Amino acid sequence: MRFINDDRKSIFRKPRRPCPFFRRGGGKKHPLTQVSKQKLAVIGLGSVGKAVKHTFDFFYDTVDGYDIDGRGNWENVLHSDISFICVSTPESEDGHLDCSNVDNVLCRLSASGYSGICVIKSTVSVGFTDASTKKYSNLRIVYMPEFLREKSNFTWFVNPDRLVISGEIADMDKVIELFWWVDDVGESVPILKMKNIEAEIGKLAHNARIAVLVSFTNEIESACMEYEADSDNVMSVIHADRRVNSKEHLKPKLGGYGGKCVPKDTKELIVSMKNPILLTAAEERNRITLERD
Ligand SMILES: NC(=O)c1ccc[n+]([C@@H]2O[C@H](COP(=O)([O-])OP(=O)(O)OC[C@H]3O[C@@H](n4cnc5c(N)ncnc54)[C@H](O)[C@@H]3O)[C@@H](O)[C@H]2O)c1
Repeated sequence: MRFINDDRKSIFRKPRRPCPFFRRGGGKKHPLTQVSKQKLAVIGLGSVGKAVKHTFDFFYDTVDGYDIDGRGNWENVLHSDISFICVSTPESEDGHLDCSNVDNVLCRLSASGYSGICVIKSTVSVGFTDASTKKYSNLRIVYMPEFLREKSNFTWFVNPDRLVISGEIADMDKVIELFWWVDDVGESVPILKMKNIEAEIGKLAHNARIAVLVSFTNEIESACMEYEADSDNVMSVIHADRRVNSKEHLKPKLGGYGGKCVPKDTKELIVSMKNPILLTAAEERNRITLERD
C-alpha cells in the first residue's frame, strides 16, 4: 500500500533502499533473522499509524495495516506476532481522553484469543493501561506512547529522542528489539522502561510542559504589547541563559522556588500586567508547594 504524505516525500516508496531519513542503517535487515521474520500489524492508519506502518515496512517482511475506515484486513491482524494500536483518542466532554477506540480494539483482540503482543501507541488516559490489563487478562498489553510531531511524522518516528515503554519485561524486550535501527538506541536514545502509570503520566506531562512554555511565551508577549516592548528582545534575555537548555528546573524534588529574586521579580511582572493568568497560577502553585513541603 502506498501512502500519500508530503513529509515522506519519495523516500519511503522503495522499501529496503538506503534512506536519508535514517541517521544510520537505512535499508538494512535486522541481523537476527528471527526478529525480521516477526509478523507485525498496525491498527489505525492515521498520522501515527502511517508512520509506524511505513517504517516497519522498510525493515520487516510482513506488516499488515488495518483501519476501521475499510483499509486492510482484520484477519491478518489476528495472525500477527505484535500489533501496534494507533487509533484516535479524542478529548471527551468531561475533558478526559476518550479511549473507547482503543478499548474496542482490545475487546476484539481479546474475543478472538489473540496471542501476540498488543502495543498501545495511542495516548491514553491515566490508569487506562492497568485497567485494560486487568479487564483483558488474556492479552499481553504493552504501553509505548508516541512522541512524533504530526508535521514530520515519519522523520520523528524513525529518529525518536527516547523509547518509553511499560508492561511485562519479556514483552517490553521483544518490542524494543524491533527498534534496532534507531541510532544509538539505549545510549544517546534512552530506553525508558517504567510502570504503566508512569509512562501514561510521562507522555501527558511532556505535552503539558510544551503547553506551559508556549503559554509563558504568550504571556510575556502580552506584557511586551502592553508596554510597546519588542518581544524578540525580551525573549533573547531568557534564551541566553545557560539554564534554559539544562534540566535544572525540570528535576523533581526541587521544591518551590524562592530566594531573593525569583519570587519578587515574578510578582513585579504580575502586578504590572493586565491579565497575568499563567504567572498568577505559577505563584499559587508555588505557595501550595511551599506549604506542602
Ligand atoms: N498525531 C500526532 O502527532 C500524535 C503524536 C503522538 C501521539 N498521538 C496519539 O496517537 C493516536 C493516534 O493519533 P493520530 O494522529 O494518528 O490519529 P488519526 O485521527 O490521524 O488516526 C486515527 C485512525 O484510527 C482509526 N480508527 C479509529 N477507531 C478505530 C478502530 N476501532 N479500529 C481501527 N481503526 C480505528 C481512524 O479511522 C483513523 O484512521 C492518538 O491517541 C493520538 O493522541 C498522535
